[in-house]
Amino acid sequence: MSMKQRIILAATTLLPEHFVETIKSHRRPDRKHLLAWDGTSVQSDAERFLSSRIVADQIDGMLSPFSMAAMDSVLSLQASNPEISGNVVEFGTYKGRSAAIMAPHIRPSEKLVLVDVADYLEVEKIRAIHANTEFVRCGSEEFCSRYPDYKQLRKNCRFVHVDSNHAYRTTFQEMKICDALLSPGGVAVFDDYTNLNYSQVLPAIYKYMYTANTDLVVFMVTDVKAYLCRKRYLNYYLSFVLQGALPSMTARGVEDVIISRTDWDREYRAIYLRTREPGETGPHYGQEIYGRLYEGP
Ligand SMILES: C[S@@+](CC[C@H](N)C(=O)[O-])C[C@H]1O[C@@H](n2cnc3c(N)ncnc32)[C@H](O)[C@@H]1O
Repeated sequence: MSMKQRIILAATTLLPEHFVETIKSHRRPDRKHLLAWDGTSVQSDAERFLSSRIVADQIDGMLSPFSMAAMDSVLSLQASNPEISGNVVEFGTYKGRSAAIMAPHIRPSEKLVLVDVADYLEVEKIRAIHANTEFVRCGSEEFCSRYPDYKQLRKNCRFVHVDSNHAYRTTFQEMKICDALLSPGGVAVFDDYTNLNYSQVLPAIYKYMYTANTDLVVFMVTDVKAYLCRKRYLNYYLSFVLQGALPSMTARGVEDVIISRTDWDREYRAIYLRTREPGETGPHYGQEIYGRLYEGP
């Protein structure tokens, strides 16, 4: 046990409980860790999104307009940062609806790798958006052994969208693959995170996070998806959610959005992005009670 841990243990054992609670209540995000968000390209990014949406809407699939806008906002953020580079991978492509949203963001030097157990995808439609697109027909579980250039993708992917069968063991395996693939600034997005018809997705994700030696953390959740990044980039992505998520969603035509954060802990700092409920106003859920939690990442 370190000296710091000993002092904390002694303090929590010796001090009266209410005193400890008072100290704890001073834990809060620090404004000085908020990284500036450059919103100058919001309108032009949103205009490009509206063209991608027209293509995506013509492809049968499950991705909602909200998820399209949220994923597109994160991809636009990455595109504005030259430090964040790498390939884009999707497990569970179906006919390519989500791929049509991701493809326009991919730089000429980057590859889009689409993986599915079945052959539903009309790959030429996606290649018309990004020429360097590959379709791999296999289960995500066997991707490492089936994809010949797997080694080149390791730690070299900036965005991985996981939308396959949502089985417990598959999801656990997909966390492991994301951990192997993501570059330092990369983001992994897990679909049906809060869909309790697939309640196994949550325990599979957290089993991996709490038992594997990983630096993956959740930075944003929506009604459908969880967005994960590496700890080193947590302040970066949280700063974006706090400042840029709402204007980015609004510019993409998703009105009435709000963010919600009701706790801030060294171990968990994710923010919920959703549409407002009837009667809700303002950009933050529970501003009067939790206002200080929105001040920094
Ligand atoms: C919900 S759909 C994907 C929807 C798609 N992302 C979209 O935007 O429309 C799920 C897809 O996962 C595929 N799938 C199922 N099990 C899989 C696995 N183990 N690995 C990869 N793909 C899988 C299915 O064939 C199906 O096409």
